[in-house]
Order: sequence, then structure tokens, then C-alpha cells
Amino acid sequence: MEGVTEPCFRDLLLARNRPEALGGTFTEFVRVVDSPLPRRLLREHLGERALRPRAEREGPRAPVGVQLMGSDVGALAETARRAIEVGAPLVDLNFGCPAKGALRGCAGSALLREPAKLESIVRACVAAVSPAPLTGKIRAGYDDDSRLEDLARAVEAGGAAMLTIHCRTRAEAYCDEVDWTRIARAVNSVSIPVCGNGGVATHADLVRMRRETGCAFAMVGRAALGDPWIFEGLRVDAAEAARFLLEYADVLVLSGGASTRGAAARVKQLLVHWTAGDLLGGDRDGWLREGDPARLFERLRSHAGVDAATPERVTDR
Ligand SMILES: Cc1cc2nc3c(=O)[nH]c(=O)nc-3n(C[C@H](O)[C@H](O)[C@H](O)COP(=O)(O)O)c2cc1C
Repeated sequence: MEGVTEPCFRDLLLARNRPEALGGTFTEFVRVVDSPLPRRLLREHLGERALRPRAEREGPRAPVGVQLMGSDVGALAETARRAIEVGAPLVDLNFGCPAKGALRGCAGSALLREPAKLESIVRACVAAVSPAPLTGKIRAGYDDDSRLEDLARAVEAGGAAMLTIHCRTRAEAYCDEVDWTRIARAVNSVSIPVCGNGGVATHADLVRMRRETGCAFAMVGRAALGDPWIFEGLRVDAAEAARFLLEYADVLVLSGGASTRGAAARVKQLLVHWTAGDLLGGDRDGWLREGDPARLFERLRSHAGVDAATPERVTDR
């Protein structure tokens, strides 16, 4: 998810959920305009850990695919090829982003109005990454869901290995109401595996979405920002939840990805959605109003039970 699921956060999630529970993740979308992106940038999005051979990592981890968004077929296809070259196990194409910037560039959900163009983009990228798999993510439609089946079939006809469908339309943005029958409609219109997305708030919803719609996989968006254990369905206490957030801040600073202030801002981005361990205890606004990073980390440490015996952390300074 753009601006949130950078490599440090993704890595912590992958470490807490077995691959059997969390089958895979994607980078945030990487915007491709009119020329192929440099390999360095793709490596940065993948993160150092995702690129290390599986055997070298502590324990098995699910794959991290690169997600691309754009409308220039040639630039997308070459960028997709480079993503595989630098070590991505798969590439996903974003046809769902509703942001004005994406629409202006005729990318993201703008392509939901042009199933034929969408299909040609998928086809070119499939050819570029073969034999690695390419997947595509759509919304249920642009203004309404009347072309849902056409869009699902366009992704399949282009040769994608999996279709992800976010069940809201572009017009519905991130509204509270979701209609999972749209996911079932996608499942019934293609023969490739379908990953359902939209409105999963709990681990039970993950199970229910698959049962009710027949989708092979279920994707979690915002709820994973508030509960990193959602895929396993583990219920952690407030101390464990606070330790996760402190570790996230530490990793961000130690990896050079953020200053202490920047790390506090990132933690607060998660606190907007946070549910795990009932850490916020009904005082979300109070947590979010905390402007001093030192006080925010102190409040987290008081819940985490971090004491003098704990090795020094960046967030102790
Ligand atoms: C801040 C934010 C950033 C997002 N960035 C991306 C992105 O980079 N790629 C993508 O496919 N979807 C992105 N999404 C959409 C989510 O992946 C997901 O489709 C959407 O939030 C619906 O799922 P949910 O109801 O479980 O949150 C983003 C959503 C939010 C709120």
C-alpha cells in the first residue's frame, strides 16, 4: 500500500505470519510513466531481505512481488522484465488506484474504462516476465460494476496467472459498504485463481470471504496496518502490540529509512488503523495527538514492559 507498506513494515509482517497463512505480499505501486524504471529503484522497493536467497533468511517467508502502475505498454513491459531480473518472483499490475494523479496519467483505475487496452498491457507484460507469473488487480468497475465480467476476462485473456478484484468501484473509493457478490461474479467469469479484496476487518472475515465468494485467496488492505497478526488469526496482548510498533520504529531508523521523528510519524500512520491487543484502549485521538516522538515511544515502552535489562534501542534515545 502506497506510502505505508515499505520494506521494513512488510518484513515484520512476513516474520509474524507463516507462508501458509500469509501467501504473499506486494510492494506499494511503483509508477511507470514513459520510460522503464531503473533497476536500483525496483531493488529499493523490494527491500534487501526480499532479494536474499530463501535459504539465507531466518525461516521461510512468503514471496514479495513488485506492483507496477502505468499506461505506457513498452515502458511497463520493460520495467516488469527488469523487476524479475533483479529478483522479484512475480509482478502485479495495478488497475485500481483511484487517485487523481493516476487518472490524469490514464493509469490505475482509468484503465477500467478501456478493457481492450488493459488486456494489451497485461499481454505485453506477461510476455516480458515469462516464465515468471504476472498478476493483475482491478476494481469492480469505474463508475459502476456493469463491466465487471469484461474486466475480469480481459485480465485472464491477457495471460495473467491470477486476478485480484477489489470489490469497490473507482467511484466508491474506500466507502464502508462492500458487496462481496462482485467477487463471486469475478470467480464465475474466469478460470484463473481469483484473490478477493475489500472490507476484510478480521481474521474471521478472511475465512468468510473465501467461503462466501469461492475466491482462492483473500487480500487484506487497511486491516493489516492495524493488526499485523491478522493472517494467522493470533490475538496478541497490548504488550506484544506495543513491542511490534517499537521494533518497527527501530528497524526504520537503523535501516536508514527514517529519522526518529520520521519513524514516529510512520508509527502514527499505523495507529490510525491500529486494533491489535486493544493497545489504544479507546484513546486513539490521544495517541494520534502525541506530537513529541520521545513521549510517543515512552508511552509505547510503558505498555511493552521494556525495562533496563532490554538492550538499548534507537527509540530509547
Ligand atoms: C493508503 C492506501 C494506499 C494504497 N496503496 C495501494 C497500492 O499501492 N497498490 C494497490 O494495489 N492498492 C493500494 N491500496 C488499496 C488497497 O490495497 C486495498 O485494495 C483497499 O484498501 C481495499 O481493501 P481494504 O478494504 O481491505 O482496505 C491502498 C489503499 C490505501 C488506503
